Order: sequence, then C-alpha cells, then structure tokens
Amino acid sequence: MIPIRKGREIEKLRRAGKALIEVFDTVAPLIKPGITTLEINAEIEKKIASLGATAPCKGYHGYPAAACISTDDIVVHGIPSLKMLKEGEIVSVDIVLKLDGYCADATRTYAVGNISPEKRRLIEVTEQCFRNGVAKIRAGARLGDAQHAIQLTAELAGYGVVRAMTGHGIGTSMHEDPVIANYGAAGSGPLLKAGMCLAIEPMINMGDWDVVIDRDGWTCRTADGLPAAHYENTVLVTENGAEILTER
Ligand code: MF3
Ligand code: CO
Repeated sequence: MIPIRKGREIEKLRRAGKALIEVFDTVAPLIKPGITTLEINAEIEKKIASLGATAPCKGYHGYPAAACISTDDIVVHGIPSLKMLKEGEIVSVDIVLKLDGYCADATRTYAVGNISPEKRRLIEVTEQCFRNGVAKIRAGARLGDAQHAIQLTAELAGYGVVRAMTGHGIGTSMHEDPVIANYGAAGSGPLLKAGMCLAIEPMINMGDWDVVIDRDGWTCRTADGLPAAHYENTVLVTENGAEILTER
C-alpha cells in the first residue's frame, strides 16, 4: 500500500525536505582533497542534530553512520572512514533525515577538485536521469513511465543502470512502498496519486550495471571497477506534476 499524505503531513514532509537542503549546504564546501569521509559524516551529524532532526540511517540494520559517502567505483552505501578524498575522484553523499516524524532523503554526487570529462558527463547524465524521470510524474501517470525515462536516459548515454538497488516511497519511515527501480516499461506499475511521496534515485554506472558487495556487508561497488554516480531527491506527487522537496 502506497501511503497518501495530506495537509499537515505534507507540511511536515516539506519541512524535512527544507532541513535536508540546509544539511547539503554545509556538505558542498567540505568536498576537497584531503578531508576524510568520517569528517564529512561528523559535520553532517552535527548539522542534523542542530536542526532538531535525527538520522534514520544510523543504526539501520547496524549501519554505523548518518550518511553514506561513496567514492568512484562505490555505487552506494560507502561507510564513512579515515580514507581521504583525492583530487579527481567523484563522491556521492546520501543523507536521510527525520524531522517531527517525517523523513527526507537526497543524494548529490560531487567532483573532488578537477575531474575527467568522462566523470563530469557521468554526473551530469545521472542528474538528467532524475530530471527526465520526474518529468513523467503526476497524478494519473504510472510509476513505470518515470522508471522507463530514467533507463532510457542512462542507456542512450551508454551507461549501465544499477539493478540491485532501487528508490522507494518515503514518509514516516525512510523506506515505504513502492519499490522504484531505475528501469522498467512505460505504462507499467502502480498508478500515481496526488500525495504519494517518493525517493527517486538513479544509480548509474559508467560501464556495466553489475555490482558487488564488500565483505563489510554494505559497500556496493561496480563489478567492473568503473565509476558510478547517484542523484536523489524526495518528491511529492501532485495533480499536475511533482514537487521536489529536497531542492530549492
Ligand atoms: N538513502 C539510502 C536509501 O535510500 C540509505 C539507506 S541505507 C542505510 O535507501 F543503511 F544507510 F540506511
Ligand atoms: Co533513498
């Protein structure tokens, strides 16, 4: 069952989204060679606490941090560590926060210093996958319409769409119905209704779509070792489109 949010619930989702935007405002200037992903995570935890919010990822099935910070060939679920960011890497920062009982979830992929044109294009196309997917969202559309647009955008650019990880509904829990694959057939899947809240999150590989999980049980890497990018926002389905809650 996909929850439909109304009135005060939507206001709370909007406030959670705005708070998460503020968290990302503190992350962007930190992304430089030499900072450790643990230091970035610490700043994120501090900012979330200062907003009176909590970080649902921390402790989720034993996950140890507030954020997932994933460099280069790490697709998602990179665990913050003492490893320093290096010039030329790309790094995705994935954060969920919960404010007054409602969650927001977003991811940005950043360049660390100067990056190759190939990595730059991967970041840009991944964001475009999100935009083309969201452009299909409105009451009366099918979820598959958005999924198909994401897949088409990635594959026309020559990239692999990660199969093992998906987006999801979001609300009072960070993961709710529906499961949102980043591939699918237009016209398929659940009918979208105003008030549904969705985390749309294309995870796109420069090479093949296949991934492997490290022995830590979390770190998800591309099987071929090529880089991956991730872009995510929490969006609310409306009568005429989608309201993006985690972007200005
Ligand atoms: N933002 C991720 C998601 O959308 C985070 C969940 S994994 C966790 O599913 F362990 F960090 F919580
Ligand atoms: Co998510």
